[in-house]
Amino acid sequence: MASYYFLLFVLLAATELSEAGAKKKLSSDFYSSSCPELLPIVQKGVIKAIKNESRVGASLLRLHFHDCFVNGCDASILLDDTSSFIGEKTAAPNNNSARGFNVIDDIKAKVEKACSGVVSCADILALAARDSVAYLGGPSWKVGLGRRDSTTASRADANNSIPAPVLNLTALKTSFANQGLSVKDLVALSGGHTIGLARCITFRGHIYNDTDINASFAQSLQSKCPRSGNDDLLEPLDLQTPTHFDNLYFKNLLDKKGLLHSDQELFNGGSTDKLVKKYATDTDAFFKAFAKGMVKMSKIKPLTGSQGQIRINCRKVN
Ligand code: HEM
Ligand SMILES: *[C@@H]1O[C@H](CO)[C@@H](O)[C@H](O)[C@H]1NC(C)=O
Ligand SMILES: *[C@@H]1O[C@H](CO)[C@@H](O)[C@H](O)[C@H]1NC(C)=O
Ligand SMILES: *[C@@H]1O[C@H](CO)[C@@H](O)[C@H](O)[C@H]1NC(C)=O
Ligand SMILES: *[C@@H]1O[C@H](CO)[C@@H](O)[C@H](O)[C@H]1NC(C)=O
Ligand SMILES: *[C@@H]1O[C@H](CO)[C@@H](O)[C@H](O)[C@H]1NC(C)=O
Ligand SMILES: *[C@@H]1O[C@H](CO)[C@@H](O)[C@H](O)[C@H]1NC(C)=O
Repeated sequence: MASYYFLLFVLLAATELSEAGAKKKLSSDFYSSSCPELLPIVQKGVIKAIKNESRVGASLLRLHFHDCFVNGCDASILLDDTSSFIGEKTAAPNNNSARGFNVIDDIKAKVEKACSGVVSCADILALAARDSVAYLGGPSWKVGLGRRDSTTASRADANNSIPAPVLNLTALKTSFANQGLSVKDLVALSGGHTIGLARCITFRGHIYNDTDINASFAQSLQSKCPRSGNDDLLEPLDLQTPTHFDNLYFKNLLDKKGLLHSDQELFNGGSTDKLVKKYATDTDAFFKAFAKGMVKMSKIKPLTGSQGQIRINCRKVN
């Protein structure tokens, strides 16, 4: 009997060890010998794409967020739907909304030319998000590398795990907590809305039904986003500087000029008011917390070691 339990113990310990062996930590020099040109290739690709279209930096940041919140940062969002495969691109939060895929394709093609079959799409996405924020005037940070790409995707998980703009503060906190992210991360990372645009369909409820909104701001939005129709009309998430990464998003929240219901929830008499005030007055504190939050977010459940694969084409499994 005792030897049976001992054997069981040895087996369990061995399993844990081999799993630990497959799970490697991300490191910023992961490709330093296998693909030394990686970082400049990604950065050049991002800058070229933003010079062509200023919004796309925001789109790349959001792609990384929507990748990481659905079973980890594994490039699952990049997989195309086919007749036999349903992916995340057409999930409710992404359909007609997630963009920037061509930029990742262009960068991936250049990376493949320089070092074939070595660099994951998930790592390229993490780097592109960082380079976008830095180029638009925001903070920079070291990106841990060594993620691998998924061979699967889940539309249901994308529907359920990506927070919706109708959520209240409690639900937003829960959504982030489910990913191991704190309330501070929630507030700081929401500051990603200092860049980019949102469609009428995503803020209609806020401008017609909510009271925590400046009346003249609501009125001016109502004149462009009617009660029905014009669903795809775009408005900046940060009304002054949607292509500059700054702290005006938080200043706008103090004035009840958040565009989304979820934005204004962060400053609506609740526990996060203090942090919003802090970031509205202290850009440096915001940038530090944003960078820290991004590093945490980009480490959500990565595939490492021999898990997953290095996709050759980010849109399909090898
Ligand atoms: C806290 C919960 C969040 C909610 C409810 C939310 C919701 C939304 C919605 C509804 C849009 C507009 C989509 C459209 O109209 O197609 C949007 C855009 C955007 N979001 Fe979020 N978001 C959240 C957090 C984040 C985070 C954590 C980041 C990044 C760190 C982020 C970055 C962006 C960016 C950059 C855009 C603009 C994208 C573009 O212009 O292409 N968001 N978000
Ligand atoms: C430039 O941006 C437009 C959208 O404004 C996009 O359709 C086009 O593919 C982009 N071109 C390049 C080379 O990235
Ligand atoms: C995605 O959007 C397209 C175009 O609006 C629509 O035809 C399609 O039904 C949508 N897909 C899903 C899964 O909702
Ligand atoms: C996800 O949301 C889309 C769009 O609302 C819907 O058509 C689809 O049935 C949902 N899919 C799953 C698997 O939950
Ligand atoms: C927040 O939303 C959840 C889910 O919709 C709801 O159950 C809860 O009562 C709401 N909380 C507050 C404080 O409004
Ligand atoms: C606004 O409130 C009305 C009445 O409660 C409701 O019928 C409608 O669906 C809400 N609109 C949005 C976009 O949430
Ligand atoms: C709402 O915004 C307008 C325009 O910026 C401003 O003049 C007005 O004072 C604001 N209203 C309130 C109640 O703060």
